[in-house]
Amino acid sequence: MQKREQWKSQLGFLLAAVGSAIGLGNIWRFSYMAYSNGGGAFLIPYITALLTVGIPLLILEFGVGHERIGSAPLAYAKIHKGWEWLGWWAVVFVMFGIELYYTVIIGWCVNYFLLSFDLGWGTDPKAFFFGDFLSLSDGPSKIGQIRTPIFFATIFVWFLNWLIVYRGIQKGVELANKIFMPLLFVLTAILVFWSLTLKGAGEGIKAYLTPDFSKLSSPKVWIDAYSQIFFTLSLGFGIMIAYASYLPAKSDISKNAVLTSVLNCGYSLFAGFAVFSVLGYMAITEGKPVAEVVDKSIGLAFVAYPKALSLMPGGSLFGAIFFLCLVVAGISSSISIIEAFVSAYVDKFNANRRKVATVISVLGALGSIIFTTQGGLFWLDIVDHFLTNYGLIVVGIFESILVGWLFKADILREHINRYSSIRIGRWWNGLIRLFVPIALGVLLIGALYREVQSPYEGYSWGAIILLGVDWILFTVIIAVVFALRPWKTGHRQAGGRSGD
Ligand code: ALA
Repeated sequence: MQKREQWKSQLGFLLAAVGSAIGLGNIWRFSYMAYSNGGGAFLIPYITALLTVGIPLLILEFGVGHERIGSAPLAYAKIHKGWEWLGWWAVVFVMFGIELYYTVIIGWCVNYFLLSFDLGWGTDPKAFFFGDFLSLSDGPSKIGQIRTPIFFATIFVWFLNWLIVYRGIQKGVELANKIFMPLLFVLTAILVFWSLTLKGAGEGIKAYLTPDFSKLSSPKVWIDAYSQIFFTLSLGFGIMIAYASYLPAKSDISKNAVLTSVLNCGYSLFAGFAVFSVLGYMAITEGKPVAEVVDKSIGLAFVAYPKALSLMPGGSLFGAIFFLCLVVAGISSSISIIEAFVSAYVDKFNANRRKVATVISVLGALGSIIFTTQGGLFWLDIVDHFLTNYGLIVVGIFESILVGWLFKADILREHINRYSSIRIGRWWNGLIRLFVPIALGVLLIGALYREVQSPYEGYSWGAIILLGVDWILFTVIIAVVFALRPWKTGHRQAGGRSGD
């Protein structure tokens, strides 16, 4: 059995957890979510979701990984052997689903970083993005050709991912985050303060933060807030469990969970200022209201933003910094996804972690290719919709039931309180045992209800079932197969830190 690696320092762990949490989702997804869901008023459901589900589940995931000393499948198997599949499912659908297109989006950002230097998207960034760049086909059934610039950038992203994970926890993941996180914070601060000096910045910020309380009565706003919290804190990915398993026995779990959440959500809010100041500038320059220049989807980063960059003084440098931020934030998250899988595989099969990292990166890069084709954006859209709205939420429901009822929330709470500076009270048991599964259950039913009413985004049912539903079913089967294989290590028989 290989010796479990450990973080060099608590700060190294915190930076890695924050690196995983802060990702592509924080910069463009948060901004348009906040804007389209009532601006400043969105902060109410967002913070509610953070307090009622985000922080409690992050404490749970850190706590379980630390107490059971294992990656997601091992930690769950140590609680109840019938639940090992859940851990496998999380790391499998995230690695062979989310990660495959996540790296492609980072690849787009690499391209846009290079394009920034001469504002290479020209005068019509929309036509450029969908036409010249993606060469988008008519629909998901028309895959078309591989887009060469996207393909090469994606391979480059995979190479970096591989290099970091291959080097292990201390020399790879920890070191990378110790460089990436300070760099990201400095670059983002430059963007925010620069953007605030632009004329029209105030208008943009007003649009970003002016509360529209009438939106709060819409269930969609609440669903969006809860799913954003899940994605942004990397909950249900199996990542936080694996990362916490590399902590030494005496570790402050609850303080790290609170710090990770606050830094992550604070970062989103902060970055939103840079996004909206620039959009405000564009609105003033073009004499349009801000509402007309905002894009509520992926177009925010790749269409609306480039358009604004072309108009502003120093736009090419600003753009280069902006896309570099996306690349850095993206890579620190994508390595965490690979690590969650590698850690699971090594825990069970006693394989050499370098070999696993290499094989998994090659397979991942091959799997990404489909998303670099002309039909890739459609595939990405459907797979992302199903995996984030259903996969992550279902893992959240099951893990709260598993830990809350089978493991007993109290045992974990006592373990966490042993070395933590922020003591968790009994309220946490209530949230984990009842509130989280019920709230997520309601969310899931609401999402399923909307799903059957009409096919997502008007895609054909065939495409939805083939790509969305089958992706879920297929990864469940793979998870069960992994779970049924015999253990090659004695980890599962060993108990946790609480003594059983
Ligand atoms: N937590 C990561 C993000 O927000 C996955 O992008």
